[in-house]
Amino acid sequence: MPEIELVAGADLNPAMREGFAAHFPQARVYETAAELFRDSNVEAIWIATPNRMHCEHAIEAMRHGKHVVVEKPMAVTLDEADRMVEASEKYGVTLLAGHTRSLSIWNRAMRRIAVSGKIGGLRAIHIWSYTDWILRPRTPDELDPAQGGGIVFRQGPHQIDTVRLLGGGKLRSVRGTAGRWTESRPVPGYFTAYLEFEDGPVATVMHNGYGYFAMSSIFPWAHEEREHDEQERAEMRRGLELGQRKELAEKEDFRVGGRRDPIVAAKNTQATPYPWIPVDLGPVEMACERGLVRPAQWGLTVYDDDGHRELDLRHLQRPEPDPSGGLTIAILEEMYGAVVLGKPAFHTAAWGRATLEALLAVMQSGRERREIELTRQVAMPDEYDADMRVDEVDSHVAVRP
Ligand SMILES: NC(=O)c1ccc[n+]([C@@H]2O[C@H](COP(=O)([O-])OP(=O)(O)OC[C@H]3O[C@@H](n4cnc5c(N)ncnc54)[C@H](O)[C@@H]3O)[C@@H](O)[C@H]2O)c1
Repeated sequence: MPEIELVAGADLNPAMREGFAAHFPQARVYETAAELFRDSNVEAIWIATPNRMHCEHAIEAMRHGKHVVVEKPMAVTLDEADRMVEASEKYGVTLLAGHTRSLSIWNRAMRRIAVSGKIGGLRAIHIWSYTDWILRPRTPDELDPAQGGGIVFRQGPHQIDTVRLLGGGKLRSVRGTAGRWTESRPVPGYFTAYLEFEDGPVATVMHNGYGYFAMSSIFPWAHEEREHDEQERAEMRRGLELGQRKELAEKEDFRVGGRRDPIVAAKNTQATPYPWIPVDLGPVEMACERGLVRPAQWGLTVYDDDGHRELDLRHLQRPEPDPSGGLTIAILEEMYGAVVLGKPAFHTAAWGRATLEALLAVMQSGRERREIELTRQVAMPDEYDADMRVDEVDSHVAVRP
């Protein structure tokens, strides 16, 4: 992004540092996060360390006056999230939590339709995802629920952030459950939940990460894109059951500098505009009083009293390739807007805490077999995306008499 200069990075792992230095020779490279926090040329830091470290690293960065983007989940406990909210206020810096698939243009444009009321009020949202999440290589901390391991912590933020974005932010309650279905993985690989908003709309979310079926296989342009194919999944599963996989080495392959370096892969395969694909969020279906909206390859399909029409959203994508499908650029734009242009931040620490509250409630609800009421929810202001170029979206959605 021309607005942003990558000036430094830190990682404990020498291989990561080497790979990073090779890609970004202009950047300084540090062995520890503490050195990075002390670098006076750094204004904002992206924290993508393991989940259990998000709180400590974010607070330490903010104490040094740095703005922070913290990866999802924002933290592992509500107490940690509280301390992060407080630190952001105390040190007067922006913390953005919510680098999730809610930020894709498909979801943001869908929300514009909900806010416009052109197909009536929002009534229900449904998101179901089937992936190979549990089969992917994992480090030991990712297999420990106490350290934020498991599919609810890791994938719940994508679906819950999306539901909250579309429905205005303030959930009333959650009834859900998490499932740990195999001996070979000591963390949940499945969850489902029914969520209700304070003002009435409802939502269901589901993610089955056991890899028997991939949702992408039913969308012709997305055929298992960025996922392992059926045969590879079967081999990965067998390898886990027999304890034969070298997961740390496999994981290293997918890191910067590794054999399947994501930056190299992005350079080779990512062209803009990029199509919608379901990984890992799943298709989002938004039902309103007088219609329904769901994602399409290049935008959205809107169904209303006149039938259905496709909205092409390619004009909303930025030209820079983004291996995440636009999410990373979206959150960086929000950070740039808040820090440099003085615009409001929306995916604040309080926003991230509200999503964490809901995903913790999914697990609690399953354990206690009851509905959990939420108390820390915050709204997404209508001004979010007010300057998004939605002319084409608006003109395509029929205005009812
Ligand atoms: N938003 C998304 O779509 C998305 C996708 C993948 C991962 N994530 C998030 O990113 C985070 C990392 O996940 P990952 O799969 O990349 O894990 P990873 O293990 O590959 O990366 C973590 C890195 O942090 C480094 N590290 C650990 N402790 C450190 C310390 N004290 N100081 C400096 N560096 C340290 C490790 O050496 C490693 O390179 C998680 O929070 C995960 O949820 C988000």
